[in-house]
Amino acid sequence: MLKRMIACWIVLGCVLFYGSMALAGAHGDMDRQRASGKGPAILLVTFGTSIPSAQAAFANIEEQVKAAFPDAPVKWAYTSYIIREKLAKSGQHLDSPEVALAKLMDEGHKRVAIQSLHMIPGAEFHDLKVNADAFKGMVDGFERLLVGYPALSTSEDLTKAADAVMTIIPKERKKDEAVVLMGHGTHHPSNAVYEAMMYRLQRRDPNVFMGTVEGGPTLDDIKEMLLERGVKKAWLMPFMSVAGDHAVNDLAGDENDSWKSVLTEAGIECAPVIKGLAEYDAFTDLWLDHLKVVMGHMR
Ligand code: CO
Repeated sequence: MLKRMIACWIVLGCVLFYGSMALAGAHGDMDRQRASGKGPAILLVTFGTSIPSAQAAFANIEEQVKAAFPDAPVKWAYTSYIIREKLAKSGQHLDSPEVALAKLMDEGHKRVAIQSLHMIPGAEFHDLKVNADAFKGMVDGFERLLVGYPALSTSEDLTKAADAVMTIIPKERKKDEAVVLMGHGTHHPSNAVYEAMMYRLQRRDPNVFMGTVEGGPTLDDIKEMLLERGVKKAWLMPFMSVAGDHAVNDLAGDENDSWKSVLTEAGIECAPVIKGLAEYDAFTDLWLDHLKVVMGHMR
């Protein structure tokens, strides 16, 4: 009797267990069907900025992306915790890439194209890639999740960027006046991209220089070159997606150690142009071209 009861419980247990498995499977299938009707979503990822005037650059990129992919929902994520916190205090809530991806997954998106809006494939880009990869292989998660390269990733990008720089130099600038671009720079090995940019720019116009705030070429390198060539005036331009804090303060600020102050002190007249690269369509194309490659893999 006892043996029969135990056998019964085992059979019943098995039926319930496998039954619930089959049901879970059926729900999964229904979910998949529901979500598969959605086209790919686009997630634009940047360091972020808390300077309102710098937002013009992001607005321009978004406009270009929406024009190229009118059916895709476009979301934003800021990698900088400090910037997100600052903006939250004024009621602006920006997601980190991880939260943005979790939300997209929650909403049933199966295909997501992440576009890095960084300038170079540095630390922030690689961190983004690692965390995006962590979202792969989840049950009922994304079927396609790809990250587009930053603006200056391939040799072709450097050619396009150098050509684009030539088109954004102020018309009033005379040939013997220098154009000094300020890139961010990094401890990451990809800082070499800035050195390569210097070469590309110099080939086109020997009075156009590439410097960085946190890597090489340094401001000292640039100052030395300008003095060697007897340059009397320099146009200073940020080589960053947005004209944020570095452009406003480190490049064109009145502090003693700003690029404007240091070069002025060296006898070079300075004319700063405070506009982020993403405000120029010639540059938004660099990011857009990488996004197009990724979107091409979303079908
Ligand atoms: Co910085």
